[in-house]
Amino acid sequence: KIKNVKARQVLDSDGRPAIEVDVITQNGAIGRSSAATGNSVGINESAVIRDGNPKLYGGKSVYKAIENVNKIIAPAIIGMDVTDQQAIDDRMIELDGTRYKTKLGGNTINAVSFAVARAGAASLRLPFYRYLAGGTEIKHMFTPIYNLINGGQYYGIVQAFQEFILIPRNINSYEEAVRVGVEMFYTIGDIISEEKKQPAVKGEYCGYGAPSDDPFEVFEIFEEAASRLGYKDKVCYGIDCASSEFYNTKSNTYRYRNRDIDCDELISILKKLTQRFPIGFIEDALQQEDFEGHQKAHECIPAALIGDDFICTNIERARKAYEMHAIDGIIVKPNQVGTLTETMNTVRFLQEKEQILIASGRSGGPLDDPTTDLVVAIGGHMLKTGAPRSGERVVSINDGIHISEELGDNGRPFNVMTLPGFSR
Ligand code: PGA
Ligand code: ZN
Repeated sequence: KIKNVKARQVLDSDGRPAIEVDVITQNGAIGRSSAATGNSVGINESAVIRDGNPKLYGGKSVYKAIENVNKIIAPAIIGMDVTDQQAIDDRMIELDGTRYKTKLGGNTINAVSFAVARAGAASLRLPFYRYLAGGTEIKHMFTPIYNLINGGQYYGIVQAFQEFILIPRNINSYEEAVRVGVEMFYTIGDIISEEKKQPAVKGEYCGYGAPSDDPFEVFEIFEEAASRLGYKDKVCYGIDCASSEFYNTKSNTYRYRNRDIDCDELISILKKLTQRFPIGFIEDALQQEDFEGHQKAHECIPAALIGDDFICTNIERARKAYEMHAIDGIIVKPNQVGTLTETMNTVRFLQEKEQILIASGRSGGPLDDPTTDLVVAIGGHMLKTGAPRSGERVVSINDGIHISEELGDNGRPFNVMTLPGFSR
């Protein structure tokens, strides 16, 4: 049973205040978690509440969220069975009562939900991923995938697409997936430095800042790195367009290479990219409210279509997109929806439909992200770990090394080539 719940303010991986919660049980088990926040945030995500007082951390402090835990959530869940995750999550959803958890805060509820789960695992003395798997057999590891070149403004140009992702394929062990990712990262850095005649700049997501506004040129760099390393058959790619970030609602157009283009032109560019390079998936191909556009993109583009901001780990949005044939899978980010229980409901729905599950940390993540354990527990296919520099990203990659070792024969990464959209 839960004996005590304590909340405090700590910092996330971006140095912003974040709420951290400890859940303590009567038998002395402790679970701790803090809530993640992103930079490219979907409009259908549960709310991150911050105090907004410009004199405190530039408005970003979370003292109100802490008060919500101490005054409202703690008294309601103390005494409840720590392993009854659903009852606890339901109780918090009921106490909040709003669609996007604006009253108590999605960040508040997320931190409590995962602290409860970790306390549950600790009270049963189970590794967190085993506890989350709840007795179902773990048959494989995820394939770690790496956001090696980041979009945005660098070298005086703007790359519209947010992430150019490396996906290891045809690999036999988790360690091999780490090696391919890291060696590609080093080599891409060398190639960019040679081309630019200066050290490659660091991008917003700890990869390299995109050296060109043309996505074709960016993938040529990946291909050059793969040939230098002899890895042509060991790599394929993903793109996170994060299209809402360069979409103009008023004109219904996308800002791409100094032009305004419409949905059809964007789809045709993506189609050409997938014909030219081994691209397995495209994330958020179109802006987050365009279900029809995604449906059309799904028809035209031979890669798997994945919804991140488009779906927000939300079961209603996932169901609608699935029924419209607008996606092949989603990015699983528990803090988008709030609780562990809601995340699991969305995951189970999509698993039944054999959809692709890619978990991801957030750019403003906790340093001990629960997402790595979660993706192992649900048998997720891939984990977006970011680029292999910066502590919190390396922690997830290393957690994967530990877990894959513990899983023994079942510790091999999922073979992405069996997924729809990959084997072309
Ligand atoms: P975020 O973005 O964590 O900054 O929201 C990552 C992504 O879009 O996948
Ligand atoms: Zn994304």
